[in-house]
Amino acid sequence: MKILAIANQKGGCGKTTTATSLSAALAQRDKKTLLIDLDPQSHASIAFGMLKVEPLNSIFSLFVNETDKVKKISDIVINIENRLDLVPSHIILSTIEHELKEREDGLLILAKAIGHAELKYDYVIIDCPPNLGFLTFNALRAANEIIVPVEASVFSIMGVGRLISMVELIKIKLHHAPHTKGLVTMHDEYSEFSEKMLRKIKYIFKDKLLKTIIPYDTALRQAQEKLKSIFKDSPHSRAAHDYLALADELLALDKEASAGNIYQEMRKMLHGVYGNIYSKERVFRLYAPKASDVYIVGDFNNWKIDESSKLEKNVDGDWEKSLYLLPGRYRYKFVADGLWLWDPQNSEKEPNPYGDFDSVFQI
Ligand SMILES: Nc1ncnc2c1ncn2[C@@H]1O[C@H](COP(=O)(O)OP(=O)(O)OP(=O)(O)O)[C@@H](O)[C@H]1O
Ligand SMILES: [Mg+2]
Repeated sequence: MKILAIANQKGGCGKTTTATSLSAALAQRDKKTLLIDLDPQSHASIAFGMLKVEPLNSIFSLFVNETDKVKKISDIVINIENRLDLVPSHIILSTIEHELKEREDGLLILAKAIGHAELKYDYVIIDCPPNLGFLTFNALRAANEIIVPVEASVFSIMGVGRLISMVELIKIKLHHAPHTKGLVTMHDEYSEFSEKMLRKIKYIFKDKLLKTIIPYDTALRQAQEKLKSIFKDSPHSRAAHDYLALADELLALDKEASAGNIYQEMRKMLHGVYGNIYSKERVFRLYAPKASDVYIVGDFNNWKIDESSKLEKNVDGDWEKSLYLLPGRYRYKFVADGLWLWDPQNSEKEPNPYGDFDSVFQI
């Protein structure tokens, strides 16, 4: 499951339009997608016609302080169209932002809620509010990838540096390294100014800029006015075409990243046949006495967080799991309460495609 946060503290740069259109595009491409509206303005919810949602049926119920009112993501999901679900927002969400500061787990609530719900989606898209507060921090912490929409304007470009510093802070403080990619929005190819800004954006993001460029297209505004997705309202528009191209680009990048997994699949098949003869036991152990669940994910299980990758806790606060693996070199990580961690007992690490490191071992 891929979790993408759409974030930029600059207002009106196309976050919500990207979150809603990309979610709908991924659903069109047969990917089961969940759109999480994390902005108290609730524009993504409104864009899909969710004008009246009870506070406790919205994302607010994940963050509410009274534990008896806290709900699971699966309890508040609304089906929008084929393969597309929504967790709606509510204006009341803006009132809890300052309370999150007081809570020990204030930055991890969304990551934990997504981790615990065992959601069965291919993609989760999070629409962030236009600031760098606790809600945005929650999204950046939960995401494996951040898409930063940047419209061709001076202020939009100025804000990017601050967002990137925030991601760096997350890397250092929370040992979590989501991959960041820029997306040019509202581009007017006929405007000299827009072209100049595009060159600046390319300079800032370098190879981290998505190739797809979203043009300025009034069809998007018209679709939002009718509370419809661009694919329902204007399927032949330039914007519909380009948001599908964006979905295709992201899908191709993910396919590239998991290309190595075909080899792993073959390895697993062989394991089924020859496992008893050639496989060796490897025990994974993490000391995390306060964690409520810990998983081991890596090349050997396609990085899947599920029952089969769960560790057992012993009385000393150690979490353990033993796996039988064929000889080879494997990358892996622990996931403790939604936090992705290297193995502190293994100094061998390798960089991964997301700009972070994985622990590595050889059998
Ligand atoms: N590619 C585009 N072409 C034309 N108009 C667009 C495009 N993308 C977004 N818009 C319009 O620009 C306005 C701002 O877009 P949007 O709401 O997506 O930005 P946002 O970053 O989510 O804003 P906020 O920071 O307030 O959440 C909206 O009116 C939207 O319809
Ligand atoms: Mg928005």
